[in-house]
Amino acid sequence: METYLYEWLNFVVRFLHLITGIAWIGASFYFVWLDNSLREPPQWKKDKGIKGDLWAIHGGGFYEVAKYSLGPEQMPKTLHWFKWEAYTTGITGFILLTLLYYIGASSYTIDPAKMALTPWQASLIGIGAIAIFIAAYEVLCRTALVEKSLQFGLVVLAILTVLAFGLDQLISSRAMYIHIGAMIGLAMVFNVFTTIMPSQRKMVEAISQGQQPDPSWGHKAKLRSVHNNYATLPVILIMISNHYPITYSHSYGWLILSALIAITAYARHFFNLKHHDIIKPSILIGALIAFATLIWLFAPKAVKTEDKTVTTAQIMPIIQSRCLQCHAAKPTDDVFKFAQGGIMYDTEAEVLAKAERIHARAVVSKDMPFINKTQMTDEERQLIAQWYQGLKK
Ligand code: HEC
Repeated sequence: METYLYEWLNFVVRFLHLITGIAWIGASFYFVWLDNSLREPPQWKKDKGIKGDLWAIHGGGFYEVAKYSLGPEQMPKTLHWFKWEAYTTGITGFILLTLLYYIGASSYTIDPAKMALTPWQASLIGIGAIAIFIAAYEVLCRTALVEKSLQFGLVVLAILTVLAFGLDQLISSRAMYIHIGAMIGLAMVFNVFTTIMPSQRKMVEAISQGQQPDPSWGHKAKLRSVHNNYATLPVILIMISNHYPITYSHSYGWLILSALIAITAYARHFFNLKHHDIIKPSILIGALIAFATLIWLFAPKAVKTEDKTVTTAQIMPIIQSRCLQCHAAKPTDDVFKFAQGGIMYDTEAEVLAKAERIHARAVVSKDMPFINKTQMTDEERQLIAQWYQGLKK
């Protein structure tokens, strides 16, 4: 019963996380697009303090949007704020992280081949690493470096790379990936909480009291908002990479992660320039070439197999001792009580039918058995490789 409810809770929280994340990132994309697409307004609008305007058509209606250089003379009756999208994404994300990687630490976070941690130790390492990143980022944002976007981005990337490498020595690579994603995601939420919202509150307060808002508040909020914008693609990529062990299960998974962050943030630059009518295909092409190079560089070495036939009957004992624990009609694992991924290997026929995925996960990406919980050996993987080659002939 407990596992049953745990699985549903996990599902519901993940759903909420996804929905709020879509709302948040959607709003972020929209406002960056809006800001970059503003054009010079007619004189009568300029006289009112409007610095840019924009016309759009959507859903059968015309919209006219105007941005003030500082603020309107009077506060409007209703002013829309955008904060709950960010906060709820952060909160649901953290709950999901806790459910899977802290409460479920023994299956998701601890990799005994790296370090035999207790669930408490593993959780503290995870939370500690997130805290270190957010603190380092906040400190950096208070230095002069923040005004130099490229250098700032490179320093943040360097910090993330060091943390990825460090975590990879201590916890499972899958957990390391999610933690780097959580660091960036939570730093984005903190940007809203510690800087964007307070700056905006001060601006509203000044205008309500008939004073001019200090332009530095808007500037500070804008910088953080731009950081968030560049972080969107890397964060989404890291979140979905958890379903693609080809990324994290590589022995240089931390380096692949770092490269993916750099490439996707760079690709975002293309879209940000495009909003200003600056079309630089070289950026997208460059990002694609870098991506292709990455795939080529980290391709697994072909497994050398002897030319001997291995029958399905011969590999059944391996599957039974290493996989059945989690992939059976009645799994025996202490955590995974349902056939994971809906996959069962109870019979020879089932194993044969799923040969391609067995090879993909146990030989190519080597991330099954899950965090090698059942301690599959390299010889056994080799045998599965031979069996699979035989099938293909
Ligand atoms: C300790 C539990 C556990 C063991 C043991 C285990 N798995 Fe899995 N397996 C999982 C979990 C959890 C998932 C779902 C998460 C995912 O897809 O990464 C999964 C998903 C899969 C998938 C579905 C995803 C896909 O790529 O199609 C395949 C295939 C798979 N496992 C193969 C294997 C093989 C082969 C073995 C034995 C060599 C094995 N597993 C042993 C836990 C386990």
